[in-house]
Amino acid sequence: MNIELSQRWVWITGASSGIGLHLALEAARRGARVLLSGRHAETLGEVARQCQTQSNHAGHSGGHEVLAFDLLDRSARVAAPARALAIAGSFALVILNAGISQRSGFEELATAGFDQIVDLDFMAPVDLVRGLLPSMAAGSGFVLVSSVAGLIGAPRRSAYSAAKHALTGFGAVLRSELWARKVSVTTAFPGYVRTALDKAALGPDGKPKGVQDPRTQSGALPQPVARHILKAALRGKAHAYVAFNLESRYALFSAHYLPGLYARFSSRRLS
Ligand SMILES: NC(=O)c1ccc[n+]([C@@H]2O[C@H](COP(=O)([O-])OP(=O)(O)OC[C@H]3O[C@@H](n4cnc5c(N)ncnc54)[C@H](OP(=O)(O)O)[C@@H]3O)[C@@H](O)[C@H]2O)c1
Repeated sequence: MNIELSQRWVWITGASSGIGLHLALEAARRGARVLLSGRHAETLGEVARQCQTQSNHAGHSGGHEVLAFDLLDRSARVAAPARALAIAGSFALVILNAGISQRSGFEELATAGFDQIVDLDFMAPVDLVRGLLPSMAAGSGFVLVSSVAGLIGAPRRSAYSAAKHALTGFGAVLRSELWARKVSVTTAFPGYVRTALDKAALGPDGKPKGVQDPRTQSGALPQPVARHILKAALRGKAHAYVAFNLESRYALFSAHYLPGLYARFSSRRLS
């Protein structure tokens, strides 16, 4: 199934930076109108202006909009699909990309921090999908941005890895259930991507630790990652594996076929 974007709306959560920002620019370049979500209206307004520049350069009319809200506020996120549909009418693509990571072992992480990561990375996309489903027509689709940590256990990412695994499973079920309706579900599994994800990742006290992981900082650039994800989604692909370095490939192989060896190898990360 192919999804046509021209003059149709794409809703992107986590559109203020990193992968989401570049997904927005790429969607605008391909002729879509983009609804940009995140917590900060001013930052999103700047992204909307950048999207408009992309649209203009590519000869499209653009007309991008902002819908700012906090995904951790349950009543705000349950109300968000109706607000989004009031702006757009309907969506060709809904990209559930917003996320937060973790930089602490399970034992040391405060319960509230664990819950916050699961709420943002798993329950929030589920609530948005639930609210939007009745409006999704044939020839439209969802993108769930999971992670390599949604395929293997990532030490010091217990909540993050659990939430991304849950998202992976949710996407797999949704894909089967929506098959006959011709609504696609693409799950994206990025490896290391050079974004601000590290900085916002929660430390043991449930607050951002602000530490940069050298693996993220030497990871893939977000532009080609966003292009790869969007291309896969427009073709209705089930999975988009992107930015897998040698370490990620080895981890994926050993975690599935040699789980004991993987535990030993990945435990080195704790030091
Ligand atoms: N970077 C990587 O190496 C990597 C690898 C695998 C998967 N991913 C996934 O890719 C996705 C995008 O992350 P990124 O790497 O591009 O990091 P990023 O630049 O930090 O982007 C995270 C986005 O999530 C939004 N967000 C965070 N908390 C929010 C909240 N409470 N309510 C609404 N929006 C919120 C942020 O917006 P505001 O702060 O402006 O609200 C921001 O736009 C995430 O799901 C992440 O797990 C990233």
